[in-house]
Amino acid sequence: MLQKIQETAQWIKQHTALTPRTAVVLGTGLGRLAAEIEVVDAFPYADIPNFPVSTVEGHSGRLIFGMLGGKPVMALEGRFHYYEGYDMKQVTFPIRVMHELGITNLFVSNAAGGMNPDFEIGDLMLITDHINFLPEHPLHGPNFPTGPRFPDMSEAYCREWLDMARAIAREKGIKTVEGVYIATQGPTYETPAEYKMYRILGGDAVGMSTVPEVIVARHQGMRVFGVSIITDLGVEGKIVEVSHEEVQRAANAVQPLMAEIFREMVRRID
Ligand code: HPA
Repeated sequence: MLQKIQETAQWIKQHTALTPRTAVVLGTGLGRLAAEIEVVDAFPYADIPNFPVSTVEGHSGRLIFGMLGGKPVMALEGRFHYYEGYDMKQVTFPIRVMHELGITNLFVSNAAGGMNPDFEIGDLMLITDHINFLPEHPLHGPNFPTGPRFPDMSEAYCREWLDMARAIAREKGIKTVEGVYIATQGPTYETPAEYKMYRILGGDAVGMSTVPEVIVARHQGMRVFGVSIITDLGVEGKIVEVSHEEVQRAANAVQPLMAEIFREMVRRID
C-alpha cells in the first residue's frame, strides 16, 4: 500500500511544479468550485497511476493543481464513495497521497440531507463534528506509520478554522448554519424513520461521504475544515422525494458562496 502511495505521489511530483499545502475535496454538485481555481495542471484520474476512477454522474474525476486565494492548492474534483464498491483503503487513497505530497490542510465539502428543523435547503453547514456510521473503518488493519494506532478525535474539525469561517461568513454576509455530519453507506437516501433516528442520535445532516477522508487526514496530522450543503430536508413534515439531480441542482446553486469562504480561508491560512 505504502509503495503504491509513494509511486503515485512520485508520478504527481514529476508532472506538476506546484507544491501546495492545502487540498480541497469537492463533493456532489460542487465540482464547479474548480472553475474558481486558476488551473495550472489537471490530471484525469484515469491517467494517474494507482488512482481509483470515479463513477458517479456529477463527478468529473480530475486532480487539479492551481491557484486559489493567491495560494497553490490541490483539488480532487470528484471523490470515491464506499457505495460505488470501493473499499475504504481506495476511498481514502487520495488523502494518503496528499500526505506524501506535503498537504497539511484539508478542506472537504459534500451535499447532505438536513435533519435539524432549523435548516433550509441551500444552507451552508459548517461541520463541527461527525458520527461515523459507515460499515468499514478506514484505519482497519495494521496501523499506518503516519499516526498512532488509536488516533484522538476530540477535534476532528479545527476549531480555529471554524472561528475563521464564522468570521468570514459574517464579514461577507453569507448565512451559515453549523452541525454534526453523520456518514451512512448509502446509496439509498433515508426513510423518514431513518432521518428521525439519525436526528435522535445527534446528527444535523446526513450524507454518504467525507468521514473516511477526515479520519485518514486526522491520522496523518492534517487540519480539517468541512462544509455540507443542505440539498434536501429529512425533517418530519418536510420530507419529499429526493433525486440525485435535485441534490446536484441545490448544491450547484450554493457553490459560489462556499467557494468564497474556501477562497478567503486559503488566503488567510499559512
Ligand atoms: N441523505 C444522504 N445523503 C445525501 C442526502 C440525504 O438526504 N442528500 C444529499 N446526500
